[in-house]
This record gives sequence, structure tokens and C-alpha cells, in this order.
Amino acid sequence: MKKRVLSGIRATGTLHLGNYLGAVKGMLELQDNPDYETLYMVADVHTLTTPFDVEKLRANRREVVLDYLAAGLDPEKSVLFFQADVPEHTELAFYLSSVVNIARMQHLPTFKDKVKQYPHHATMALLNYPILMAADILAYKAGFVPVGIDQEPHLEVAREIARKMNEQYGMDFPEPQRFATEGEYVPSLTGEGKMSKSVAGSYINLTDGLDAIRDHLASAPTDSGQGKVVPATGGVANLLTLVELFQGESQRKDYEKMYLGEGIHYQELKESLAQAIYKELQPIQAKRTKLAADQKYVDNVIADGAKRARALARQTVDEVKVKMGLG
Ligand code: ADP
Ligand code: TRP
Repeated sequence: MKKRVLSGIRATGTLHLGNYLGAVKGMLELQDNPDYETLYMVADVHTLTTPFDVEKLRANRREVVLDYLAAGLDPEKSVLFFQADVPEHTELAFYLSSVVNIARMQHLPTFKDKVKQYPHHATMALLNYPILMAADILAYKAGFVPVGIDQEPHLEVAREIARKMNEQYGMDFPEPQRFATEGEYVPSLTGEGKMSKSVAGSYINLTDGLDAIRDHLASAPTDSGQGKVVPATGGVANLLTLVELFQGESQRKDYEKMYLGEGIHYQELKESLAQAIYKELQPIQAKRTKLAADQKYVDNVIADGAKRARALARQTVDEVKVKMGLG
């Protein structure tokens, strides 16, 4: 039997380089490996866990599908769907919540961070976030989850839930593992933390043209370009990480030598990095423009994905119901 893979990204806007390198690249790699059966969703229900605008959510879930398809996710190889179209996820989440302790959820760093960010939105939906994510994965008994390193605490919860369901109710859930990529942590352009949609100036979108990429890089902080040690954190370190991800390790080493010697000219570094990033994004953007003009095709992909995903998820949820005395 093929190993199952599930992943998703929230519908909070178009994707950025962090989402692409940390999550989508891993999704692509497993999709193209015939040993795996891949299911990729837009985590639109999860979008309700933080403040959102109804019309923006409606538009954004389509944007994410377009990004997926443009980046190379292929409905012939993967099941692509909206989480909200498979109500089995929310149903299963409730059953799973019966083996989860409240305090465990309240102490998760991801929960605490979001409460800090939105102090007036500490909702039950937010507290339930990791349980719904576990349900997304376990509904398909998926063993691999391509996501960035920031999602590891959520996967740990999913493993705990799987173990408890197996011990208490005799289920056979695998303990899902993260599938890591080279870009599992793409740093912010601001020089601090990770590239993230919620931090202005931190990211480059997959839809950004060459000029927009240049502008974003222009505001990334640098230094004099020379010193006794190459910085390990901050603006310069982050630029070098991006160089490594888009231009390779040897290019990074060349810059490091320059830093310790004659000095780096950041304008040149940023221009060649902008070119390298655009070279990777340009074909994705061309494909996206074509797809955006064919709404019917996108609708069909999503409708078909929902049907296929539901059939699989229903089997698991029915099995859970029987094992828990509900059927
Ligand atoms: P954001 O922080 O921008 O809101 P999400 O939380 O929606 O991003 O993340 C969607 C997916 O992209 C997850 O798998 C996450 O791990 C991955 N991801 C997000 N930002 C980065 C990053 N800077 N580096 C690597 N992966 C990332
Ligand atoms: N929590 C993930 C994120 O922030 C999104 C997500 C929801 C997810 N359900 C999932 C990722 C299931 C992998 C598997 O991006």
C-alpha cells in the first residue's frame, strides 16, 4: 500500500517564499514520488481561528489553489481540496478532542503566540487549532506531513492523539512525521525571525515581479560589508541564507570569503539574488496567469478533490465511531 501524505496551508493570502520553500516544495517532491499518495488542502477552516474578513477568505482560498496549481501541484497526481468541503475533518476533530487535555493546548507556544498577537480573539477555535490539524492528518491515516519547522509542535500533538486513540480505542493511526525540505526555515527580510505573512516587510510573494522583488530586498538591513566574523544572525545572515537557497552553497561561501576579505557590495548581491529568485518564480507566474483565466477548470479540480477526499475520510471517521461506541 502507498504511504499517505497530507498537508495544507491556511487561506490568509497569496503564498510567499517561506510557504513555497518550507511547505510546497516538500508537497511537490512527495507528489512526484510514486511511493506516496498525496492529499493537499487549503486549510480554510483553520483560517477562522484568527480574525478574518468573510469576502477576503472567500477570495483567498481560491488564491491558494491557484498558487498550488501554478507551483506544480497536479490534480492528476494529488487530491487537491478545500478543508471546508470535507466536514469529516471537523467531525473527527470533536471525537479526537475527547483524548486531549485543555492545559496541554493552553501551553502550546503556537497558541500563546497567537493570543499575544490577537488578545481579543482567544477563541475556542484557536484553542482547538492543533486538534483540527490532527484530524486533517489522521482522517487519512497520513504518515508524512510536508510543512515548515514552525509546525513541529502541532505534529507532536497529532502524534500524541494518534497514540492515545490507538491505546484507548484500538485504532491503527500512524504517528505522523514532518517531511522537511532544505528551506524548512526561510528567514525574514527584516533581519529578525522567519518570513511570515503577518510581518510587513518580511516576505516576497510568489506573485511578485522582478521590480517588487528588488524593492523588498532593497529594504533588507545590511552592514559595512566587511568584518572578522560572518554574522550568524540578523539581516546579513538572512540574506546569505536566501543566497544559499536560491543560488547554492558555493555562492554563499564566495560571499563569506568576500566578507572576511575585500568586502561585499550589497547592491550587487541583492541584484543577483533578485534575478535568481525571479528566475524561479517567473514560470510559476506565467502558469498562474493562464490558470486564473480558466475558473471552470479550477472549480472542477476542487469539486473532484472534495469527492475523492471525502470518500477516504469517511472510512476513517466511521471506523472511529464504531471503536468509540457511536456506531
Ligand atoms: P505565515 O507564518 O506566513 O502565516 P503559515 O503559518 O500560513 O505562514 O504557513 C504555511 C506553511 O508554510 C506551513 O507549512 C509553514 O510551516 C510554512 N512556512 C511559513 N513560513 C515559513 C518560513 N519562513 N520558512 C519555512 N516554512 C514556512
Ligand atoms: N497549521 C498549518 C499552517 O499554519 C496549516 C495546516 C492545517 C496543516 N492543517 C494541516 C498543515 C494539516 C499540515 C497538515 O500552515
